[in-house]
Amino acid sequence: MLRHTQLKAEEAAMIQPTKPAALSALLRVMMMAAFALPVAACAPEPEPSEGAAAYRDYCAICHGDRGTGDGAIARKLAVPPPDLTTIAARNGGVFPLQQVAASVYGYTGKHEADLMPEFSPLLDGPAVTIGGPDEQTARMPQRLADVVLYLQSLQRL
Ligand code: HEC
Repeated sequence: MLRHTQLKAEEAAMIQPTKPAALSALLRVMMMAAFALPVAACAPEPEPSEGAAAYRDYCAICHGDRGTGDGAIARKLAVPPPDLTTIAARNGGVFPLQQVAASVYGYTGKHEADLMPEFSPLLDGPAVTIGGPDEQTARMPQRLADVVLYLQSLQRL
């Protein structure tokens, strides 16, 4: 009986409609990230990317190690931290670079409960442009871009 249910869930996962455009955009970002870290990739024990490290230091306590909203203090918050792995899924398959960046950095007044901290001083640096030629692009400080691209890599579509 249980086994039957599990099979059904697997089948359901297999017949989910794929979103080729968003998926290829995601792959491109993942490849960019792989090429951007040649030294780390050659090291015997790869360092986590800059974005992953910043995420672990600043965000995991609320949003959880994997971004699913189950951080150590999540249950103590009046508003539960959202699942950051479903941002694209909740946005028609597109990961909104600019909007996500704004949720993290320098965008005040949106959060009713005022729980999500403001990260502008921590995630600063020279401005860079992220995104591909045939997709949306966004310009933002380097360290913020690292975190945004890391969040993009966590998306489940
Ligand atoms: C103190 C707990 C806390 C920390 C630390 C925290 N967040 Fe949040 N975050 C929240 C809460 C609660 C919300 C939802 C309510 C709100 O918007 O205020 C949220 C919302 C967000 C959203 C909007 C998600 C959506 O679905 O629209 C993003 C993106 C986000 N956080 C990213 C981050 C990143 C990246 C970091 C680290 C740099 C971080 N958060 C650190 C609590 C936190």
